[in-house]
Amino acid sequence: MKTARIIGTGSYLPERILTNADLEKMVETSDEWIVTRTGMKERRLARQDEFPSDMGVEAAKRAIEAAGIKNEEIDLILVATLTSDHIFPSTACLIQARLGLTNASAFDLQAACTGYIYALSTAKAYIESGLYKNVLIVASEKLSSIVNYKDRNTCVLFGDGASACVVSHQGKGLLIQQVCLGCDGEQAELLIQPAGGSRRPASQQTVAENLHTIHMDGKETFKHAVRRMESASKQCIERAGLKESEISWLVPHQANIRIIEAIAKRFDIPMERVYLTIHKYGNTSASSIGIALDELLREKTVANGDNLLLTAFGAGLTWGSSLLTKTEGK
Ligand SMILES: CC(C)(COP(=O)(O)OP(=O)(O)OC[C@H]1O[C@@H](n2cnc3c(N)ncnc32)[C@H](O)[C@@H]1OP(=O)(O)O)[C@@H](O)C(=O)NCCC(=O)NCCS
Repeated sequence: MKTARIIGTGSYLPERILTNADLEKMVETSDEWIVTRTGMKERRLARQDEFPSDMGVEAAKRAIEAAGIKNEEIDLILVATLTSDHIFPSTACLIQARLGLTNASAFDLQAACTGYIYALSTAKAYIESGLYKNVLIVASEKLSSIVNYKDRNTCVLFGDGASACVVSHQGKGLLIQQVCLGCDGEQAELLIQPAGGSRRPASQQTVAENLHTIHMDGKETFKHAVRRMESASKQCIERAGLKESEISWLVPHQANIRIIEAIAKRFDIPMERVYLTIHKYGNTSASSIGIALDELLREKTVANGDNLLLTAFGAGLTWGSSLLTKTEGK
C-alpha cells in the first residue's frame, strides 16, 4: 500500500552571492580550477543574522502554499540539517513555533547530505503506517558557519539554502514509490566536523585548530559517492519494477558535476534530463536535492506518469535514492 506522496515543494536561497572571483581573493584558487573540477560558479551565503530556522521557515511557507493545505493539518515536522541553530533544542521545534503549527510534533534528523532522502523515507513510513497524515519536511543548511574560508580544499564547495516539501496520504503530486538507504559508519572520518560534540567540546584549543569546520578527504569521498549512489539507484529502479530507460528526470545531490555526470552515464540518462543547480548554489548539503526538485517542478513540465530518480550521498557515510512518480491520484 504505497500512498505517501509529495504534494507541495518550496525552497529559499539567501541573496548574497559568493562567486569564484570572490574566492580567488580569499585562497589560492582560480575560476578555471573550480569550474572544471566541480562545476560550481557561485554559491549563496546567509546573512550573519540568518539561520537554518529562518531559511527553513521561508521554504516551508512556500511548500505549504503549494500543497494547498491548512497549517493545522500538519501533524509532524522533520528537519534535516547538520548545521542546526542550536545543538538543542531542535531546529524543527523552532520552525514549529515560527509557523504556529500547533498540531505538529517535531524533530531533527541528521544524515548529512543524504538528509532529504532519509527524511522522505521517514515521512513515507509514518504516513503508510497510519500514524501521521501530513508531514512537513524541511532541509536547511548554513554551511558557511562551519566552512574554513582559509582551506581551499573545502571552502569553494559549499553554500547556504533551504528546501521543504509536504508529504501527504492523499492528493496529487509525486508518489514516493521507493526509498533505498545505506550507511557505512566505518568511513566516518572521511567527512567530519571533529569538534563541538561531546567527544571534543568547544575549547580555545579546538577553535585554534579549526576543528569546528568541515574536514574532508575529497578524493576518497568522491569514489564512494559514485559507487554508492549507483547501487542505491539501481536497487530503487529494480524494486519499483521499472527499466532504466523509464527514468524521466535525475535529480541528484549537487556535490560535484563530475560525480553527477558519472551517475547519469551509468544509467544512460542524457544530461538534458539531469536537473542541475550546482553552478549557481554549490553544495547545500541536505537542502540540495529539495532545492533542485522544487526548481524542476516550477521550471519544467513534469507529466503524469513521469518517473524522477533522486540520489544523494554524504557524511556518515550515508547514501540513498528515491523513485518518485507523478500522479494525479486522490
Ligand atoms: C573536493 C574535490 C572537488 C577535489 O577534486 P580532486 O580532483 O579530487 O582534487 P584533489 O583533491 O586530488 O586535488 C588536486 C590538487 O588540486 C589542489 N586543490 C584543491 N582544492 C583546490 C582549489 N580550490 N583550487 C585550486 N587547487 C585546489 C589540491 O591541493 C591538489 O594539489 P596537489 O596535487 O598539489 O596536492 C573532489 O575530490 C570532490 O568533489 N570530492 C567529493 C566531494 C563530495 O562528494 N562530498 C561529499 C558529499 S557532501
